[in-house]
Amino acid sequence: MASFSIHTYGCQMNVRDSDVLARRLRMAGYTDAPDEESADVVLVNSCSVREKAEEKALGKLGMLCASRRNGRPGLVVGLTGCMANRLAEGVFAVVPGLSFSAGPRAGAGIPALVARALAGERGMWLPGPPPQAHDGPPATSTSTTTTGRNIPEPATANQAPANQAPAAAPAPHPSSFVTILYGCNQRCSYCIVPDVRGREESRDPREILEEVRAEAALGVRDVCLLGQSVMRYGRGGGFRWPDDIPSPGGYTEPLPRLLELVAREVPQVLRLRFTSGHPLGVTPELVRAMREIPAVCPHLHLPMQSGSDRILREMRRGYDSARYLEAVRLLREGVPDIAITTDIIVGYPGETEEDFERTREVMERAGFDNAFVFKYSPRPGTPSAALEDDVSDAEKRRRDQVLLADQDARGQRANDRWVGRTVEVLAEGPSLRNASRWSGRTGQNKIVVFEPPPRVASGDLLRVRIEAAHPQTLFGVVV
Ligand code: SAH
Ligand code: SF4
Ligand code: F3S
Repeated sequence: MASFSIHTYGCQMNVRDSDVLARRLRMAGYTDAPDEESADVVLVNSCSVREKAEEKALGKLGMLCASRRNGRPGLVVGLTGCMANRLAEGVFAVVPGLSFSAGPRAGAGIPALVARALAGERGMWLPGPPPQAHDGPPATSTSTTTTGRNIPEPATANQAPANQAPAAAPAPHPSSFVTILYGCNQRCSYCIVPDVRGREESRDPREILEEVRAEAALGVRDVCLLGQSVMRYGRGGGFRWPDDIPSPGGYTEPLPRLLELVAREVPQVLRLRFTSGHPLGVTPELVRAMREIPAVCPHLHLPMQSGSDRILREMRRGYDSARYLEAVRLLREGVPDIAITTDIIVGYPGETEEDFERTREVMERAGFDNAFVFKYSPRPGTPSAALEDDVSDAEKRRRDQVLLADQDARGQRANDRWVGRTVEVLAEGPSLRNASRWSGRTGQNKIVVFEPPPRVASGDLLRVRIEAAHPQTLFGVVV
């Protein structure tokens, strides 16, 4: 049977989709290639969020298709993920020779595409995500078109939703993701995700529960529930929390109810997280759930994007810096030792030195544990793409570096506070830098490097005394 390899770009949702896709391919009889060079089938799971990410995937695809002339004549090359949706059929002009292209949530149909591609077919296109259940019939999601020809429908109404995880090989890692909310309705001015991932759709809690159970059965101990704007879970039109699922904790909002349900029903999952957050979703009830449900980790990724109220307004983020800081205050008061991380965009159109300085100030006041900084990249079809991209690349780079230097100092201070304390660490495996040591994570999602005790296994919960801190890493001794 043919072997496959999947190359993943982009966010955690793509990581999860790749994982689920690998399981589907194994169930269809394909095997994991030892490396990409020897695979019969190479899939590129792509991201469209910045131009760079697209360039990388296109470069990779071009190289793979070219390798058919250098000793790999039968190589199947498939594109999946967000870029597939953005480029649609146009991708075959950009990447001649591509075997197929399939959008996010087209997962269930991919094994059939791989089989046909192995038989020599090229240029197949399987769109996704499907339109919403409430938006009328799924006109495009259940059939592929190969230059005009329809093939048999890969999914039927009775089948599991396209992204539900089928049974799998044992999980090699103690952490895993489960998508609870597809798509995004927020339409921040700069962002292409709503175009490529479709409209918001919350999954049924019972379906999510089954998927978390399946992960736990594979040895997963840390589950992160995913949504682009995860606090919108269950808040969209048409969703109703099932009447027969009670809330002993008295929660009334869907996300706290879901956290409570999963924590109660799947005790093997020692740690529960959810991402990405939004300041308007930080309700008193959610803060209470984070404090009172022991499995829920004291950690939140809360993208701020900018500290300038003017830029935030232009970005259509729905909050100003005061509202953002208020969410941070609620979290810090309500959840002891919480770690808060963020995303920032530098060089949004019209971002002045003053706007940028505001971002530095607000980041300092928020006291982030970590920050991911991105240089603004205009995305075709988004509202801000109509504005002039007037901050030079050199200036974007400078602002990026300034924020990273600020964050390094801040991260060092945040991590210094852990020195001398004993923390619970979920062991992951040998450290990337030094294989004689192991690394794991705290509930705050901080990486801890330690000397492994005898017979340590991935997924063990260890008590580690922290002895030293770097901006991104803690070092400790198992006690
Ligand atoms: N759904 C998440 C973010 C998904 S994209 C959220 O809203 O929190 C991850 C990050 O990429 C965003 O938080 C943002 O900081 C960055 N990003 C999105 N679009 C971008 C663009 N056009 N240019 C640069 N960075 C962008
Ligand atoms: Fe993009 Fe905004 Fe949705 Fe996040 S919330 S995915 S930044 S549109
Ligand atoms: Fe990229 Fe798609 Fe995620 S555009 S950031 S892989 S949702």
